[in-house]
Amino acid sequence: MNDEQLIEAAKEAREHAHAPYSNYFVGAAIVDENGDVHTGCNVENAAYPQGNCAEANAIGAMVTAGGKKISVIAAVGGGEKLEFCTPCGGCRQSILEFSDENTRVILIDEEGTIQKYSLDELLPLAFRLRQARL
Ligand code: THU
Repeated sequence: MNDEQLIEAAKEAREHAHAPYSNYFVGAAIVDENGDVHTGCNVENAAYPQGNCAEANAIGAMVTAGGKKISVIAAVGGGEKLEFCTPCGGCRQSILEFSDENTRVILIDEEGTIQKYSLDELLPLAFRLRQARL
């Protein structure tokens, strides 16, 4: 699956976003280490902190399906128009958990301009548990 196809998968997931409070609709799509694709959208809740980000839900789908590593994750988001939806701080840490130095985060705006980032760029000096055995 190439970047454009992954972005399409993220856009499709975004169609299902449940965001009646923010009206900010996000979709995410992951290619894992096996080439399998997992998607998620943001799911808000009347009790605001219960809402989940699209990236977190896509990671949940990947882990549930047995995926261990994010090769690429595309995120598309915005209100009426798409804008570069840089993952929130919490999602950067969540993405890091399943990433390596080759993992890339792909973003796109309404004009179709693509931005690509490594986790090191998005989350410098990230917290890591030295003792963690994964
Ligand atoms: N949101 C995401 O799904 N991913 C992000 O990385 C940033 C924010 C969602 C959360 C909330 O439902 C809406 O966008 C507005 O913050």
